[in-house]
Amino acid sequence: MAHKSDLIADDILGYLKAQEEKSLLRFITCGSVDDGKSTLIGRLLWDSKLIFEDQLAALESDSRKVGTQGGEIDFALLLDGLQAEREQGITIDVAYRFFSTDKRKFIVADTPGHEQYTRNMATGASTADVAVILIDGRKGILTQTRRHSFITSLLGIKHVVLAVNKMDLIDYDQAKFDSIVAEYREFSKDLGYSSITAIPLSALRGDNMIDASPNTPWYEGPSLLAHLETVQVEQDAIDKPFRMPVQWVNRPNLDFRGFSGTISSGIVKQGDPIAVTASGQTSKVKEIVTYDGNLDQAFAGQAVTLTLEDEIDISRGDVLAPPDACPEFADQFEARIIWMHEDHLLPGRPYIIKMGAQVTNAQISDLKYKVNVNTLEHMAGKTLELNEVGIANISTDKALAFDPYDQNRHSGRFIIIDRYSNATVGAGMVNHSLRRATNVKWQEMDINKKSRAYQKGQQSAVLWFTGLSGAGKSTIANLVEKKLHAMGKHTYTLDGDNVRHGLNKDLGFTDADRVENIRRVGETAKLFVDAGIITLVSFISPFRSERQFARSLVDDDEFIEVFIDTPIEVCEQRDVKGLYKKARAGEIANFTGIDSPYEAPTNAEITVNTSDQTAEQAAEVIVAKLEEFGVLGAWYPEI
Ligand code: ADX
Repeated sequence: MAHKSDLIADDILGYLKAQEEKSLLRFITCGSVDDGKSTLIGRLLWDSKLIFEDQLAALESDSRKVGTQGGEIDFALLLDGLQAEREQGITIDVAYRFFSTDKRKFIVADTPGHEQYTRNMATGASTADVAVILIDGRKGILTQTRRHSFITSLLGIKHVVLAVNKMDLIDYDQAKFDSIVAEYREFSKDLGYSSITAIPLSALRGDNMIDASPNTPWYEGPSLLAHLETVQVEQDAIDKPFRMPVQWVNRPNLDFRGFSGTISSGIVKQGDPIAVTASGQTSKVKEIVTYDGNLDQAFAGQAVTLTLEDEIDISRGDVLAPPDACPEFADQFEARIIWMHEDHLLPGRPYIIKMGAQVTNAQISDLKYKVNVNTLEHMAGKTLELNEVGIANISTDKALAFDPYDQNRHSGRFIIIDRYSNATVGAGMVNHSLRRATNVKWQEMDINKKSRAYQKGQQSAVLWFTGLSGAGKSTIANLVEKKLHAMGKHTYTLDGDNVRHGLNKDLGFTDADRVENIRRVGETAKLFVDAGIITLVSFISPFRSERQFARSLVDDDEFIEVFIDTPIEVCEQRDVKGLYKKARAGEIANFTGIDSPYEAPTNAEITVNTSDQTAEQAAEVIVAKLEEFGVLGAWYPEI
């Protein structure tokens, strides 16, 4: 029954204690205003008297925009879910409302229902245990019903309430209700739900909302509220194995060394054996320390500091777990990804992944397919756009500890952050690790880069020429190579047009293809450097991110970025290949500088402006710079 407590007035502390001891159910409502969603939520809140409204104003967050203002409750929710959006400043429209009855406390996440808001729904669904999917009884199952169902299942929700609303407008017709339910069960059979509870409702008139309605004598199930009060959800963080990502190592003095963090799932007790996932080292929990004193045991959601019996190596980002139930530990895994940013996902581009307290560079190495959120069809695709969903392989620079999301929602999710803007651009759920990756080990060779370069009387390096098409990159690179060759240096030039005839002939000029183009040539340049060669790379390479990636593949002093800074007007006037003309005529799409971006370097080692010097002069300047940097000297082993 709805809740109305005299305790609020008489004994607020007693009341709060009673609240504390009730179980909490988080659910999300999916549907549009037309389906009667606001009426439904409004009635639930009204009938339960929205008890915290005055007493705990800070907890109430009515239609707030998370990430712009939000109060404590929003923050707590986000911490629990896609925690970094707020830090990263994405605006997500999710309103969280809190209410309570005698039996349970509830947090309901309410998100705008229309198509553009996959990311909002995903955020709301990421912490919910139950989804209430609203259907207008007159309209039955619509495209949006499929979309809502798919997204909730993607985020691991196992329990669905099919709220067939507006029954009053279809004369409480059992046959219509039954056919909607049958159609829904058929459609959703592969979505992995463990329960679907269909309820005939009229949110407006109150039928089957709080009490059983006399208008539907043929319906024997619970009312909506009765169901929400009793539904059993297994995704309880406490039921999962113990996981604690170490947020920091707490070492105030030499006698104390504790590991602090918030327990993401499970329970830990004093004396429990624990293992560090990355190193496999084990010990036992000596004390569980909190601000309010030591505890015998601590649960998911609690922030604690653990001290251990033994001195073992643990640092920020490590995950503590029971030795017999460790998370997976891998640097390649398959995940489902929801893209949340206007800039498309570009496979091959380096991003940052944040998974709990673990942070690493990562690449979406292979977008296997996209899923049409309306029809659930799989589609081929090279990128993901805002609100699109896809399945992809991800490889990370360092191995991460995680559980498959379907086994543990608390340790199997992550966010994707852009390295330059620092914006959260996507969210992901791990499907499984790719074990084949862990079985490939680096093979050490006795002859190394230094010895190969030494034999050639040089040091290896990459001269990375970047600039617009027609800027003069290849012409100047060619002259530089001739000069180096004449000096007895061992060189090779990787030229965009040439490499695109072979290794990269499968690639075009979309953003995604250019990212892959540069990734491959960056990796190739790295191999040449390893071979001891002075390697000239002449590619437009329009994106900062990929040039930075190429730089990161070799040692600091081995990468020399040469910006051929020729203004587009000059390139277009020269138009050696006639491509600008074609691009202006609309015959070539995605032409750099015209309808595809060029991000000029801000930290190039050498910048050359070809407007006021000849290619020959430019080449001389570059060689002089190389001498100045000491790149052209021989390398001698230290004796
Ligand atoms: S990159 O952007 O991916 O680095 P890359 O250097 O390999 O480009 O290739 C650029 C060359 O491809 C240009 O010099 C030009 O000859 C040719 N080209 C053909 N179409 C385009 C286009 N749409 N944009 C830029 N260059 C193009």
